[in-house]
Amino acid sequence: MRSPKDFFRPLAVGAPAPVREVPFRPSRMIHFFDPGNEKMAAKVPAIAPTVDVLLGNLEDAVAADRKEAARSGLVGIARTTDFGDTQLWTRVNSLDSPWVLDDLVTLVTEIGDKLDVIMVPKVEGAEDIHYVDRLLAQLEAKAGVQRPILVHAILETATGVANVEEIAGASPRMQGISLGPADLAASRRMKTTRVGGGHPGYLVREDPRGEDQPRATYQQDLWHYTIARMVDACAAHGILPYYGPFGDIRDTVACEDQFRNAFLLGCVGAWSLHPVQIDIAKKVFSPAPADVAWARRVIAAMGDGTGAVMIDGKMQDDATYKQCQVVARLADELAARDPELADAYAAAEKE
Ligand code: GLV
Ligand code: MG
Repeated sequence: MRSPKDFFRPLAVGAPAPVREVPFRPSRMIHFFDPGNEKMAAKVPAIAPTVDVLLGNLEDAVAADRKEAARSGLVGIARTTDFGDTQLWTRVNSLDSPWVLDDLVTLVTEIGDKLDVIMVPKVEGAEDIHYVDRLLAQLEAKAGVQRPILVHAILETATGVANVEEIAGASPRMQGISLGPADLAASRRMKTTRVGGGHPGYLVREDPRGEDQPRATYQQDLWHYTIARMVDACAAHGILPYYGPFGDIRDTVACEDQFRNAFLLGCVGAWSLHPVQIDIAKKVFSPAPADVAWARRVIAAMGDGTGAVMIDGKMQDDATYKQCQVVARLADELAARDPELADAYAAAEKE
C-alpha cells in the first residue's frame, strides 16, 4: 500500500507536483470534435470562445484508419490555436487498444503544456488510473511540462461502475468522471440501442382504477442510479461529475431534460456532440438567475449561517444556507467567465 504521505509526491523525477485540489474551472459543456476532420478543425478557432471545454476526440467515432490523422491533427491545432481561457482536453483511445500508448507519448511530449485534461475511456478500476498516472509523470518529466495534466475517467463499463469510488480516489490527478451511457448499456447488456436518454418501455404504470379505466404510465430515467452513484463518488473525493453524450441531436427537448436531471443531481456539465447542444448545456448548467437571486437573499438573511429564519414562509437553516452557497458560488464562478450571465444575475438581484 502506498503511504498517504507519498500521494502528493510526483511519480517521476522532474514531473510537476500533483494538485491538492481540483481547480474548479467552468466546464458546462465539453465540446467534442474530430481533429482529423479538416472541416471541423477549421471551425475550432470560431467555436473555442463559445465553449468552456474543447475536446479533441481520438477514440470511438474516429475510424481505425483515421486514428493517426486525428492524433497529428490535434497536435497541429493545439500548436496554432489561441484558446484564450477555454480549456483544451483530449479523449485518448482505450487502454486495451493499440493506439493509446502513441496517443499519450505524442500528445504529452508535443503539446503537454497546452492540454488541461486527458479523458480516459472504459476505466474499470484504480489500476487503470495508476497506469496512466505513472506514465503521464514520466512523460511530463521528459517533456518539461510545468503543471500536471489532469485525468478524467469515463464510467462506461459495469466493472467501472462497481469500482467507481476507488476510481474517483485513485490519484490526485483525477479531475472528474463522465457517464458514458452508450458503452455502459452494451457492457451491462441493457436492451437499449440509443446514446443516452430514456426508453419508452422503461416505465411505471398506475394501479388499476376500475374496469375499462385507462391507466397512466410514466417513463422512468434509465440513468438515475448510475448518475447518483457517480455524483456521490466524485463528491466524496473532491472531483467533478458530468453527464456524457446525448446522441439524438434533433431531440433538443429530451437532451435538455437529460442534462437538467444531471445538473439537479449534482453534475457540473455534459458533453456536446453538435453545436446545437452547446447552448442547451450553457442554459442548463448555469443556475437560473431567479434561483441565484433567491440563494443570495437566503445567505444575506442567515448572517453567520447559524439559527433559523423564515423567508416568504419557507424555513431556512444551516442546511439550506449551505445549499444556497453551492448555487451562489457556482454563479460567481460562471459569471466571471460569462459576462452575459453576470448581467442576468445582477438584473435578477435588483428585481
Ligand atoms: C461514451 O463514450 C459512451 O459510450 O456513452
Ligand atoms: Mg464510449
